[in-house]
Amino acid sequence: MKSPFNYALITGATSGIGESLSYLLADKGINLILTGRNEEQLQHLSQALSPKVHVITIAADLLNPEERQKVIEALKKYTPELVINNAGFGLYGPAVNHSTAAQLDILSINSLVPLELSLEASKALIASKKKGLIVNVASAAAFLVYPTLAVYSSAKTFLVQASKALDLELAPEGIRMLVSCPGMVFTHFSERASKGKVSSPNGFKMTPEYAANQIWQQIQTKQQCRIFDWKYRWAIHLSRLLPYRWTAKLLQQQIADRF
Ligand SMILES: NC(=O)c1ccc[n+]([C@@H]2O[C@H](COP(=O)([O-])OP(=O)(O)OC[C@H]3O[C@@H](n4cnc5c(N)ncnc54)[C@H](OP(=O)(O)O)[C@@H]3O)[C@@H](O)[C@H]2O)c1
Repeated sequence: MKSPFNYALITGATSGIGESLSYLLADKGINLILTGRNEEQLQHLSQALSPKVHVITIAADLLNPEERQKVIEALKKYTPELVINNAGFGLYGPAVNHSTAAQLDILSINSLVPLELSLEASKALIASKKKGLIVNVASAAAFLVYPTLAVYSSAKTFLVQASKALDLELAPEGIRMLVSCPGMVFTHFSERASKGKVSSPNGFKMTPEYAANQIWQQIQTKQQCRIFDWKYRWAIHLSRLLPYRWTAKLLQQQIADRF
């Protein structure tokens, strides 16, 4: 059966979940618009995937408004039917231990940037009378009060809530907005969040390939919000039955050696 997606745009395609998604979607025959800051890695992806599909790469720091505009221009030009807002990062440790600018960047990259790209993608699809699907990659942390990952987890909470409400607004236009909530995935996330102190996530880990597959299943079933996997669904359910200060303490202890 022919894919409903001619083009997919993936942010944060250069590493981890985004990189795995790039390979997975290329295997499905979907043309790709890949973005990230790492130009060498974008080049590598382009070479690896071009035999299968048409690949467009855009090197852009999404925290820079002018560079972000390059991605918005691509949304208008190609009107991809699938947009995956995946770029993101966090920093472990008390918020005041990092610069306020860094915390505002975490808020932007995990909430404002995906919101802006989602709105621009939706407007472009509506203007061209096309149906589409937007996937925002949030986190299982979005459902938890998480000291020492406070701004990151709160930014992801915004992303979950906004995606749910916008999904209802956009459905009559033939556009769906889904939100994916992975637990700990073995990517560069922990290394970056700990400023190089640790390279592996703790807790129940999953591979980026597994996470990408979960997102693909979610796309196929159009499940609005997907927490993966069952261990995280169970932990989030349990956390709702307990005083939030208890679970917050447990979470804090879990990453206490990471900052
Ligand atoms: N790993 C986990 O445990 C986990 C759990 C839940 C949710 N998530 C979420 O999953 C998503 C993907 O993360 P990952 O685990 O795959 O981590 P990763 O391996 O560190 O990849 C992060 C991606 O985001 C891009 N990115 C970061 N800042 C950017 C910026 N300012 N401008 C443009 N691109 C930027 C990076 O691109 P460059 O390197 O090219 O700059 C990279 O491609 C994130 O939204 C993250 O919050 C991860």
